[in-house]
Amino acid sequence: MKQLNIILLILTGLLVFACGSDENPSPKLDAPLALNASNITQNAFTAKWVGVANAKSYQLDVSISNTFASYVDGYQSKSVSDIKAEVDGLDANTEYFYRVRAVNGETISDHSITIKLTTSIPADVPLKEAAQGFFIGNVVQSNRMTGMHKTLLNREFSSITAEYEMKMNIMYPQDGVYDWTRSDAIVDFAVNNGLNLHGHALIWHNSTPDWVENYTGTDAEFEAMVEDYVKTVVTRYKGKVKSWDVVNEAIEDGSGDYRNSVFYQRMGAGYIAKCFKWAREADTDVLLFYNDYNLCDNGNKLTTVLNMTDALLADDVPIDGLGFQMHITYNWPARDKIEAASQKVIDRNLKLHFAELDVRANPNNDLTSLTNARSLELKDKYKEIAEIYTAIPTENKYALTIWGLRDNESWLLNFWGHIDWPLLYDADFNEKDAYYGFLEGLMK
Ligand code: XIL
Repeated sequence: MKQLNIILLILTGLLVFACGSDENPSPKLDAPLALNASNITQNAFTAKWVGVANAKSYQLDVSISNTFASYVDGYQSKSVSDIKAEVDGLDANTEYFYRVRAVNGETISDHSITIKLTTSIPADVPLKEAAQGFFIGNVVQSNRMTGMHKTLLNREFSSITAEYEMKMNIMYPQDGVYDWTRSDAIVDFAVNNGLNLHGHALIWHNSTPDWVENYTGTDAEFEAMVEDYVKTVVTRYKGKVKSWDVVNEAIEDGSGDYRNSVFYQRMGAGYIAKCFKWAREADTDVLLFYNDYNLCDNGNKLTTVLNMTDALLADDVPIDGLGFQMHITYNWPARDKIEAASQKVIDRNLKLHFAELDVRANPNNDLTSLTNARSLELKDKYKEIAEIYTAIPTENKYALTIWGLRDNESWLLNFWGHIDWPLLYDADFNEKDAYYGFLEGLMK
């Protein structure tokens, strides 16, 4: 009896359906058949479905709940004209649900079935292994070389740079008196841990000791002092320091003129070429870089640096590469600017060091905590930088160096005087979204 009822019910249903479609075509649209997601990564997937006759477009919902109690930002009834859609900005290793409806004008179909998927778990590859053919660097301070600092430097990084203790004011505090305490400790740490060591920086106007700023001798004596300093330092760490920033930030920001440093005043613009030659005389194998900031989005400055470099090369001055200090923000400079500036270095057959990478998440100081949305924007920028650097020809690559481990240790907090989260690790050494973006970029 029960079975008969069911059969009758089905027959009635079919009859109604058949009559309806024969005589008076229903405006009703079928619900799309949602298919399993494809291209699932840590933070994205492709949602797909079978197209519905007469549908002009579709509406896609994505949620972390199977009841669609809330929606992933931007994916509530998101209009899609295709029969698939890329869903991104998601969290790794997280369960998501999607469903779709067909639309034709005012007519909207029922929801499709709900599809479930889980984004991939973050790749468990250290940064230094993901990077093919170049170093992944970070900075050290002599009092930050134990515990988690040491663990992370060894696990994730293949190169280190002294954040400030291999600069002139620390190594050469008084005329004729060198102090190697901290620089030696850092060099020993690199050697003992098998890390490449990038030397930073022999000549920098911002780390010149007072006695040099106020030098009392003649210009000739000044020049002899600088020669002795460059040669003494490079010789001491010969074979251990694999590359040096010989001159740092010699060009002014706005005008693109030479910076009026004590070195420029005492020795003229030629001080740069001389320092490179002295460094080469002290170590024939070490790579020698000129390093500066705002080179990717400051036409004047980049032009001056390139003209200077061309002149050095024409004079057979031993310069191996340029360092772009990558003190950038989550939305600046644009990818094409960075690529165009990089190409100019590649065109000169020089090495390009992406040095001092940190990405300000809060450049306008409008956040008091790192929001999820901004964290994902930061992640995208880190990924972009890693992609750009990875795409550079192998012979032009050297290292991609990040300027700090933990957010709360970044020099930017003091420099700008407000909170920011510019690095790959939070204050507790947890990997941030930025870390995974950077890793993804390296693995592309
Ligand atoms: C900064 C360090 O991060 C600080 O610890 C130090 O007090 C000052 O210098 N450009 C450079 C780096 O070339 O040497 C600077 O590092 C940041 C700007």
